[in-house]
Parts: sequence; C-alpha cells; structure tokens
Amino acid sequence: MIIKVLGSAAGGGFPQWNCNGVHSANVRAGVPGYKARLQSSLAVSSDGKSWALLNASPDIRQQINETPELHPAKSGPLRNSPIKAVVVTNADVDHITGLLSLREAQPFSIYGSDRVLATLNANSIFNVLAPDKVKRIAFELDKPTPIEGAGADLGLIVEAFAVPGKIALFLEAGDASSNFGSREGDTIGLKVSDAKTGKSFFYIPGCAEVDAPLAERIRGAELLFFDGTLFTDDEMLTQGLLNKTGKRMGHISVSGPDGSIEVLRPLAIKRPIYVHINNSNPILDENSEARKVVEAAGWEVGFDGMEVRL
Ligand code: MLT
Ligand code: MN
Repeated sequence: MIIKVLGSAAGGGFPQWNCNGVHSANVRAGVPGYKARLQSSLAVSSDGKSWALLNASPDIRQQINETPELHPAKSGPLRNSPIKAVVVTNADVDHITGLLSLREAQPFSIYGSDRVLATLNANSIFNVLAPDKVKRIAFELDKPTPIEGAGADLGLIVEAFAVPGKIALFLEAGDASSNFGSREGDTIGLKVSDAKTGKSFFYIPGCAEVDAPLAERIRGAELLFFDGTLFTDDEMLTQGLLNKTGKRMGHISVSGPDGSIEVLRPLAIKRPIYVHINNSNPILDENSEARKVVEAAGWEVGFDGMEVRL
C-alpha cells in the first residue's frame, strides 16, 4: 500500500491567503525552517495504479498536478483518471470543496458518513458530479467496506468510525450546550487496510478528544495520521488571529495533559504523524521548541509529498 500526503495543512493552508501572523508571514518570506503546505488530503493505493483520495481539499487541482501518480494515463483514452474514489471524513470546507474540481463527467465514487453525504445532497452545486457517473456511498460505521469506483475494486478496505468532533462551522445551529448541533457521524476516522496484505493505517485528521473506545481502536497501530491542528488550545487567541479555542473548533491540542502527545503516549503507536496542521501551530517552524517537543515524543510532522509504504 502506498500513502501520499497531498496536503498537510488545516483549513486555510499555509500560508493562509489573508494571514499575516508570524508563521504565515515567515513562510511567505522564505524564512529557513518553514515549508508551505496545501490543505488537508491524503492519497492511497494498493497497487500504485488506482487511487483513493482521503478528503478533497480546495487545493486538489494543484495537488493532482504535483503528483504524477494521479495524472491521466498517457496511453489511456482522452479522458481518464487513476482517481477512482474519494472518502470524506467531515463536511468542512477543507475536506469537501475539492469535489467540485472533479467535475467533467469522470466516473468515481464518493464515500462518507450519512451525515456528511446529507450535506452534499442538500447543496445543489455538488450535482456538478452527476449521480449517474459519481456514486455517493454511505458508510455503515464500524463495518469494513471494500472501496470501489468506476468499475474497479481498489483492493482497499475502509472501516469508518465516529470520533468525538464537531459539525462543520457553516452548519452550526444552536449553542455550546448542544455542541452546535453536532451528532455522531459528523466527524469520522478511517482505518484503511490493504485487502491483500492486511496491512493497515489510521487517518483521523479531525478529533476533539481521544476517548476510551478510540484509544482501544488505535492501540498498537502501525501507522497513524492524526489531528495536529493546534499545539496549544488558545494559540489562535494569544497570537491575535481568531477568537476561538481548539476545543471550540472540535480539535484536540498537541501539548498539555489532555493533548495528543500525552493521551496517545501509552498506546504504543509505531509511527504517529501529525497532519491537518493550522497556520498558528509553532511545530510548523522546524527550529521551534514545540517542534523539538513533538519529535522527542516520537511524532513526525507530516509534509506535502510525504510518502509512506506499508
Ligand atoms: C476545521 O478543521 O476546524 C475547519 O477546517 C476550520 C474551517 O473550516 O476553517
Ligand atoms: Mn479542517
């Protein structure tokens, strides 16, 4: 199985178009120790020929152009693509809007929770992906599902599971006491397995909390791509960027007693990698103390173009 990180940033990307915060300004200025990053997406393939995208970011066109494996086959018909399926983990802008760039009458399948597919169904612009060509398939949560698209079996099995999280910002209804209308399935994690080898990894780009069921599920995992949105819960406030904590946005922090480093430490995950990294996160600076802390704890910081083979 081949896994490629197409975009390691959170919503907004790095640098974010309108952000003059310290990290966005530094990466824009070419300060050493910073890498620019596109928005949140991975690609996975069992054979190197047919691919599934895990989330469809607004940067998808650039991500495809920069990834030769995702180009049309030169020997193929006039219109062709190795992308046979897209799996979405929530309805956030950074994870679904790339679907709109996959129009042009190309067959593939979209997989997601019924909650997230309901958002696509309720927004008529997604009908640019004509239902006779682009199937929308709702996961049954906790059930291993073989991924297929455009008549091909991708040789990948995906088990989707609900994780603590939050409804997309633009769907919020109500107040904090109702958690803004969030329900099970608004945010899912994925266990992706190679049908032939049985090797597997987890992809959880959005997660508010590692509760006991989630901890048990990922214990001892060979490979985990995990929510690295913020280093500290209040960093967007202290940097003067946005009046929101990570908790308010449905994201666990990296540091602190309830943060992912500490909570995942006892779970003996062999290769944990942060993705979905917000432009406020100091781990974006390779020379920062925060970066040393995560690396000393055995974590890697995902980057665009990163490839892992299992
Ligand atoms: C998130 O991950 O919380 C969202 O991508 C934020 C946003 O939509 O800007
Ligand atoms: Mn996001």
